[in-house]
Formats: sequence, structure tokens, C-alpha cells
Amino acid sequence: MTHTESAWAKINLTLDILGRRPDGYHEMKMVMQSIDLCDNLELSEREAPGTAVSSTLPYLPRDGGNIAAKAAEVFFAHLGRPAPGLDIHIRKQIPVCAGMAGGSSDAAAVLRLLRRHYAPSMLEEELEAVAAQVGSDVPYCVRGGTALARGRGEILTDLPPLPACYFAVCKPTFPISTPELFAQVRTRRLHCHPDTAGMISALEQGDLEGVAHRLYNVFEDVLPRKYAQVFEIKRSLLDLGAIAASMTGSGPTVFGLFRDEENARQAADALKAHFPASFFCKNVGRAV
Ligand code: C5P
Repeated sequence: MTHTESAWAKINLTLDILGRRPDGYHEMKMVMQSIDLCDNLELSEREAPGTAVSSTLPYLPRDGGNIAAKAAEVFFAHLGRPAPGLDIHIRKQIPVCAGMAGGSSDAAAVLRLLRRHYAPSMLEEELEAVAAQVGSDVPYCVRGGTALARGRGEILTDLPPLPACYFAVCKPTFPISTPELFAQVRTRRLHCHPDTAGMISALEQGDLEGVAHRLYNVFEDVLPRKYAQVFEIKRSLLDLGAIAASMTGSGPTVFGLFRDEENARQAADALKAHFPASFFCKNVGRAV
């Protein structure tokens, strides 16, 4: 029998880095939002042992090197029982190395599926603790919706949903490696930080203008010059009618926030002519 699950992409309404931690990770404060761009996962048991991953992108790892397989391994290790043989197939739509947590979101979808079928009484907090062993963004991706993420990214607080709005999301043609950008942060001083408290109160008041004007990602401030196209796309989104635009995660994907649905669709279409990975998106609520 095959079980299916959607893996939603995320964008960062804010991304702040508070400092380096003794464990080598960075202390984060981020307002995260799920959007309706998703990968689709299929999971089924098989006779052969181990976890095999296949996907619509032939260059993704097919074994334990794929974070979706790592999620299964960590899940059964946590239960203290041998893992059954598993086949995971991923229909990828979320761009890879894009700052939208595509891999983390696939891993989170595997964890939701495995809990449903092998440990239905497992509490959400326990599943999120398992997720934290898989990757820093995986606990948020298990939960989804609008949330504040602190610590490595695993300390989560639900926030009120975004007021009605629409996004045009655009990934330049180059990828950016997350460790590379964190390394940039370590060599530079961050002078500006997002107004996270202001963002949270704008969400509490359902104030879309307030949300839009507080979009801020500190990674933009340390972006090497070779990635300047990020700023050109931000400019294009504003010219196309976005109230505000920002890079998400460690980039290079940029999103524009729009009040009007048709305007966001047209902006995504206009960008698609130059950047194939351009999408019209809506926000989505919690997954669990
Ligand atoms: O936890 P995850 O494997 O997703 O992290 C990928 C890389 O991102 C880490 O190896 C680390 O270099 C960096 N990272 C960090 N601080 C965080 C999250 C990730 O330095 N809070």
C-alpha cells in the first residue's frame, strides 16, 4: 500500500542571526510561513531492507545521503525498532538549494507519514524532537503554518495566520549553499536586524502593511557580490506591484508580497519569462 503526503515550501518573513553557539550552529530568530508550493511524497513498504529514495530529479541522492531517508532512519532509531524496507518517491516541485526548505520539508513529510502509520500515539512534541535530529528546519516543516522559530530553528511558537495576501516567488538560476552564507556571517558584523517583535504584533493585528514593511532577512546584508541578481529580482517584484519583497532563508529565492491575487499571478508570469523557477503562491496553515 502506498501512502502520500504533501511537503510544503516555506518562506521567511524575517530571518535574524543572534550569534554563534558553542555547538557551532547559529542562534536564530525567524518568522516562518508555509506556502502552497509543494513536493509530493509516496511511501510504501518493500521486501528489501533499507530505505530507497527516488525522485523526479535524477541527481538527488537515492540512499541515506537523502535527508528523506535520514528522517526514516532517525525515526525508527528513536522507536528502538528495526526499520522496515521502505521506498520513498518524491515528485519535486520546490527548487533545490533555494532557501525554501525543500529537503527539510520532504524529511518532515516522511516523519508525518511514519508517525501516522507506525506510532500514531506519538505526541507532536516528540515528533518535533525527532525532527530536530534530522535538521534545524525540519521541526518547523513538520508543523508548518505561521510560526516563530528560535534556537537552531527548532524552538517553535505558533503565530496568528498571515492576513489574506499572495506571493510571487522567484529563484535565480544559481544555487546558494547554506553553510557558505553562514560562513559569510561569521566574517562580517551585522548592523541591522529585523523588527521581529513588530512583525509579531502586525500579525496579531492582522495588519498586512505592517507585515510587509517588516520583511527582513539579514543574509541579504552579507550576500557576496556574485549573487547581486537577488537584488535585481527584488527590484523587479516591487516594479511589478509587490508591497514589499525579500530573500527567503539562505537564498537565492526572492518573494514579493501582494495584496491583489491577479497582480501576484501576473508578476509570477512576467518573471517566468526570465526565470523558469517562478511561482504564484498562497500561504497555507499548519500541517499537524
Ligand atoms: O541543521 P542543518 O543540517 O539543516 O544545517 C545545515 C548547516 O547550516 C549546518 O551545518 C550549519 O553550517 C548551518 N546552520 C547553522 N546554524 C543554524 C542552522 C544551520 O550554522 N541554526
